[in-house]
Amino acid sequence: MKHLIDPTDLTVAETDGVLALAEEIIANRAKFADACRGRKLATLFYEPSTRTRLSFTSAMLELGGTVLGFSDAGSSSVSKGETVADTVRVVRCFADIIAMRHFKEGAPLVASQYAGIPVINAGDGSHSHPTQTLTDLLTIKREKGRLDRLTIGFCGDLKFGRTVHSLLRAMSRYEGTCAVLISPEELRLPEYMFGELRAAGVEFREVRTLEEAMPELDILYMTRVQKERFADAAEYERVKDSYVLDAAKMRAAREDMIVLHPLPRVNEIAREVDNDPRAAYFRQVENGKFVRMALIYTLLQWAGGNRPFDRTPRFDGDFAVNEMRCPNNRCISATEDVDQLFRRTDEGWRCAYCESRPAEEARA
Ligand code: NCD
Repeated sequence: MKHLIDPTDLTVAETDGVLALAEEIIANRAKFADACRGRKLATLFYEPSTRTRLSFTSAMLELGGTVLGFSDAGSSSVSKGETVADTVRVVRCFADIIAMRHFKEGAPLVASQYAGIPVINAGDGSHSHPTQTLTDLLTIKREKGRLDRLTIGFCGDLKFGRTVHSLLRAMSRYEGTCAVLISPEELRLPEYMFGELRAAGVEFREVRTLEEAMPELDILYMTRVQKERFADAAEYERVKDSYVLDAAKMRAAREDMIVLHPLPRVNEIAREVDNDPRAAYFRQVENGKFVRMALIYTLLQWAGGNRPFDRTPRFDGDFAVNEMRCPNNRCISATEDVDQLFRRTDEGWRCAYCESRPAEEARA
């Protein structure tokens, strides 16, 4: 059984397969109208969301399936203190597949260990957002005709922006990807991501202004400054309007550059840009539904009738269990009684839930 917790849980070939299926669905929607008849998707959303939850819901309905779940942790047993592990052990009795969004980093990974049905990460803290990545990849493929040899500018909140982390990881696997990282000093990419880019041999450079990056970009990926992740409100006020893309800045871009944004936008793209044919962010939203249809269908096919009741072991390979402690209080391992799980990387041990370095670097 496969889960989608991180974009690299799918191989490049599997990813390409999901994108190709999404394109087949777009071309022939009627053919898939009953593809998931009788199957149920549980959307467990512990954090606010409009488009991601509606996109999942709409995707499952278009496949002929049904949807149940909650959109606010306050209305579920979480408010009584239930753990993620227990919640999914219950939900598995009512649904065939789970899409989970959680404010704690690594919560969907915990869910995947206990659910016995496929779990899709619909966004965990500032960590990862693999279905937005599939959305982005499908949009890039449809707009640019390829996924390799692309120069992508990532602009805005590269520190807390989970969509940036996931897309960079996914794009690192395609030949000739070049990343231009446009952020204020305070919102630079987390240090583990720099390690990954170096390990993958991805060409990248950091700049402080949009203007200097604009002329060379094939894709500009704009992001919202993630207000909810700031510990200090004054810090947010200081950086919130660091970048605003407007018509004047678009004049410096290539004719065939495209602008992506996972949405919601705040101020970072002026409304006047919406009418520019290069603004692809609303087309991107629609692609998100089709790619989620392809993903749900594929994961359900792979899961088949096999529903092991016990915990699914997926930690073969280079893992250390309960030998180190994760220091990140936004990590699910800080609040739930789960194994302290560390993965060996080129740059030492990393928490399997949130990528932090261990509290004591004893084995690094
Ligand atoms: C993004 C998210 O939730 O991380 N939105 C989305 O899923 N479409 C980006 C954001 O909230 O800024």
